[in-house]
Amino acid sequence: PLKIAVFASGSGSNFQALVEAIWGQGIPATVSLLVCDKPGARVVQRAESLGVPTHLFNPKSYETREAYEAEIVDRLRAEGVELIVLAGYMRLVTATLVEPFYGRMINIHPALLPSFPGVRSVRQALEYGVKLTGVTVHFVDGGMDTGPIIAQKSVEVREEDTEDSLGERVHAIEHELLPQTVRWIAEDRVTLNDRKVSIRLG
Ligand code: GAR
Repeated sequence: PLKIAVFASGSGSNFQALVEAIWGQGIPATVSLLVCDKPGARVVQRAESLGVPTHLFNPKSYETREAYEAEIVDRLRAEGVELIVLAGYMRLVTATLVEPFYGRMINIHPALLPSFPGVRSVRQALEYGVKLTGVTVHFVDGGMDTGPIIAQKSVEVREEDTEDSLGERVHAIEHELLPQTVRWIAEDRVTLNDRKVSIRLG
């Protein structure tokens, strides 16, 4: 099975959905590590309940981003991690991580990129007034939410939507799209050529 490390900073609902889909749907993968930058985050408790080891660190106790990322890369190599999944990891990653894992690191984003990159994308979409938003899974490059897109799914915005109600439907789609994308990668159906992603289906 494909060895995965999930990076998360907050609630970790995507982390849990991925672990459970792998078990429940026979995806040929295993989440062997959680990397978390927030000691009090709910995702840490979820990892504990699900029996996934955690690499927990406090960014403030390092001089530079490169310093803690180098430590993470060492840990990932030691564990033989083959795919990094950023699932609500609220930090930019630098070349220290991106270079060794380019093409093997994906991110889930709660909007249809290239619209609404960055943070609070659900609110950005509501405030802009789009009628359609959604979810994107993409390879991570050096930019913020700019890497080659692997999969997208749309979510309709309703007139009465609030950030919470729309966010809930976006999350529900994330919980399907992320495991589906991980399945494609684990089954070796995804190829990245230059910036072009192709997927072999069926
Ligand atoms: C998810 O909606 C994810 O797409 C988003 O954070 C949320 C984490 O939820 N990521 C970003 O906004 C990255 N810019 P979760 O902790 O419940 O999985």
